[in-house]
Amino acid sequence: MPNKTQRNWRKEGIVYQIYPRSFKDTTGNGIGDLRGIIEKLDYIKSLGVDIIWLNPIYESPNDDNGYDISDYRNIMSEFGTMSDFDELLKGMHDRGLKLIMDLVVNHSSDEHEWFKQSRSSRENPYRDYYHWWPVEKGKPNERWSYFDVESNAWKYDEQTNSYYLHYFSVKQPDLNWENPKVRKEVYDMMHFWFKKGVDGFRMDVISFLSKDTTFPELPKKYKGDFITYYAEGENIHNYLNEMNNEVLSKYDVMTVGEAPGVTIDNALKFVDEDRNELDMFFHFDLMSLDRSEGEVFMMRKDKWKLSEFRDIFSKWDAVFAKKGWGSLFLSNHDFPRAVSRWGNDSHQYWKNSATLLHTFLLTMRGTPYFYYGDEIGMTNIRFESIEDYRDINTLNKYESLKKEGADLEAFIENEKEAARDNARTPMQWDTTKHAGFTIGEPWLKVNPNHLTRISVKSQEKDQFSVLNYFRRITKIRKENLALIYGEYKVLDSANEQVYAYTRTLENDCFLILLNFSASQVSFSLNSFNPTKLIISNSTVIESDQDNEFLLKPYQASVYKVDNLIVI
Ligand code: NOJ
Repeated sequence: MPNKTQRNWRKEGIVYQIYPRSFKDTTGNGIGDLRGIIEKLDYIKSLGVDIIWLNPIYESPNDDNGYDISDYRNIMSEFGTMSDFDELLKGMHDRGLKLIMDLVVNHSSDEHEWFKQSRSSRENPYRDYYHWWPVEKGKPNERWSYFDVESNAWKYDEQTNSYYLHYFSVKQPDLNWENPKVRKEVYDMMHFWFKKGVDGFRMDVISFLSKDTTFPELPKKYKGDFITYYAEGENIHNYLNEMNNEVLSKYDVMTVGEAPGVTIDNALKFVDEDRNELDMFFHFDLMSLDRSEGEVFMMRKDKWKLSEFRDIFSKWDAVFAKKGWGSLFLSNHDFPRAVSRWGNDSHQYWKNSATLLHTFLLTMRGTPYFYYGDEIGMTNIRFESIEDYRDINTLNKYESLKKEGADLEAFIENEKEAARDNARTPMQWDTTKHAGFTIGEPWLKVNPNHLTRISVKSQEKDQFSVLNYFRRITKIRKENLALIYGEYKVLDSANEQVYAYTRTLENDCFLILLNFSASQVSFSLNSFNPTKLIISNSTVIESDQDNEFLLKPYQASVYKVDNLIVI
């Protein structure tokens, strides 16, 4: 049994991520806001989640929907005011919910005062808050940018005849973490939010903070893989350790780093408790599974296999089995909807596959993160036209392909499965015109399937809905520590249809059977003792064979087992 010091709320909590722009609009401007979240706190509480992560709500010109911050200590006016924020935080705490905010400090907005100063002259005291490369030094070595139309992270700025670095859009200049003043500014800002009572941070691309400011040519071993190079900056652990000493260690808070490029071999360096850095981080192995090699935003041609999916989870579980802690997610604001991607959103299988994915995440070791709308099984919208997109990532990729004369229709097809806007469509509250999200024009189109199967209102009434299944299974996780801390063991690791595993803590053992396929399958254990069904997303078909389970398409079942013996 984990002892009291090993047990903690960060591990036992279930996280619910909200993209505020898309959650609930109370003003009629078509953009979600803080008062909208306040209105829905009882609903959120009813899900059985414990921690809310809000995507950035700070002042921003919204080049990248809030990931370009122009004032770290103010609320985006579209979302409300600081007093709305205070009320929201109190409303959460009154209900026993915790709040983690997004910390976006690899870059700021180019409209942040620091950058305005920095770009104004080479002598400005803020000059070294960012990375500048004067033209006299020649052309800087290549650096890749996620959102730049030319994929070039260096932008020439006439005013001081220099280039500045931007790993993301031209409006997101990278902050210079090598400058102690920048780090101090960030730590002060973190104290500001912690003093208000915030319970933690999700840290945007935290693995990218440290940079070699000589900007050498990309070292050979990283050829074709800028992301891993960005994540391996020499001082990253010094900075995280410093941040922990200066800020995090002073509060009872939670940290989850977004860590693209961090390899499994280096994972514990970030989250080993003895190193005092982060509590956990998001890796991207699963998120790359259905993408082309080296092309993070393009879908791979063949379909991913269950064995590949399972191996990712098994490998990462093993890393944190004794030290550190993992985070589990199937979707977020940067990727398409979980059920469309890892399940099957056809009419026939949508419900079972959505609930199968809930069963999966809530029976694995690690802190589970759910993205708003997943609890009702929201699906990809699959826009037909570039006009419907709002995301800078899709829009700029489209521009650059257009310049190259590439096949734009093929790109639109790709985006139906890959685009981030699939996951950003407004929350589907009911069956009215804009799904109860807004009385105005929504900033991004609402998925028309709110009219039929996918809305909170229609699912509330149905005890067998995806929503009510979600509530049941969050409760089951909470009541069974084995599902949180128990050892994870895979059964039949080569099976391409059924993902089966056990979770065991002392005498408590659970067997989880997940049929990830659209066919009925049989799954046999060599031997097992009497089992009790804890939950299943469809009625169980009894087999006349003692050791056989028959699983319907996308059936998920959790059993309590006495002494499972698997040979
Ligand atoms: C990762 C965030 O999740 C994503 O939405 C954003 O575009 C980039 N970082 C840049 O901040």
